[in-house]
Amino acid sequence: MTTDAGQSVASRPGQVIVLTGASSGIGRATALELAARGHRLVLAARRADELGLLARQLDPTGVRVIAVPTDVTDDASRRALLAAAAAHFGRVDVLINNAGVTVEKGWWWDDADPLRVLRVNLESPIELIRLALPEMRRRGAGHIVNIGSVAGRVATNGIYSASKYGLRGFSLALRRELQGTGVTVSLVAPGFVRSEMTASARLPMPGPEVVARAVADVLERPRAEVTVPKFYFAFVLLNTLLPGFGDWVVRRVIRRRYAHRPDAPSSMAKR
Ligand SMILES: NC(=O)c1ccc[n+]([C@@H]2O[C@H](COP(=O)([O-])OP(=O)(O)OC[C@H]3O[C@@H](n4cnc5c(N)ncnc54)[C@H](OP(=O)(O)O)[C@@H]3O)[C@@H](O)[C@H]2O)c1
Repeated sequence: MTTDAGQSVASRPGQVIVLTGASSGIGRATALELAARGHRLVLAARRADELGLLARQLDPTGVRVIAVPTDVTDDASRRALLAAAAAHFGRVDVLINNAGVTVEKGWWWDDADPLRVLRVNLESPIELIRLALPEMRRRGAGHIVNIGSVAGRVATNGIYSASKYGLRGFSLALRRELQGTGVTVSLVAPGFVRSEMTASARLPMPGPEVVARAVADVLERPRAEVTVPKFYFAFVLLNTLLPGFGDWVVRRVIRRRYAHRPDAPSSMAKR
């Protein structure tokens, strides 16, 4: 599903794009897609080796693609990321908040630090946007793309859904707040796709390239919100019209993923 963003941003190759979570999955696929479309990239994630390899693969000269090892939950690290982008390219045209985590094993309430999901998925995008926005507003141009999730429309995992519902509300509201400034905001909400995050899920799912293409397309044709793959929008609608259907999915499909047994609710706590 796409919703018209109501604002236009010049679509031109060679835009300077800061992309978080570029070391794997959707972020890595997005880096490949954006580089192929001629954009200049600042790749961010914690794993410096993966990031450096990818940057060299995309641009051995280090002119059009740079790697900046970053922990998005750390304020100094976030500032260093945007400073590196400004030092190398002179500006940031697009900020893509893709870095994300979930509680991968067991229930979120058994996890030692479930709030890290909110810090990475919700707080960090807000803080990065707060850092990037003044310069974008000064220039009267910019595009912020947040990677949400269908779990931000259909409640599944308590802490992960909290982060993605929050990111959705933030993105849609921020787009409205920025109307007329030249800065636009998009939310790209994937359903299940193959990545490190979904490695343990036993579901048929497409590769992350489908999201990468949606992200690259939204830069060329800005939208407030894009659900990808598109058929997940039917799931969102069904869940809205028939919430009992959502209950059934969570009971049958999601719980199986956690190997949950009602008689042993903490059985997944050992990890
Ligand atoms: N896969 C799906 O089915 C799916 C569905 C809906 C939404 N999403 C969303 O898509 C985005 C990408 O996820 P993915 O599926 O590609 O998972 P992934 O392969 O696990 O990638 C997550 C990325 O986030 C980075 N990251 C995590 N914590 C970070 C931190 N503190 N600082 C900087 N980078 C950090 C990781 O890099 P380092 O470990 O190197 O830091 C990695 O590059 C997430 O926002 C996720 O919620 C995924």
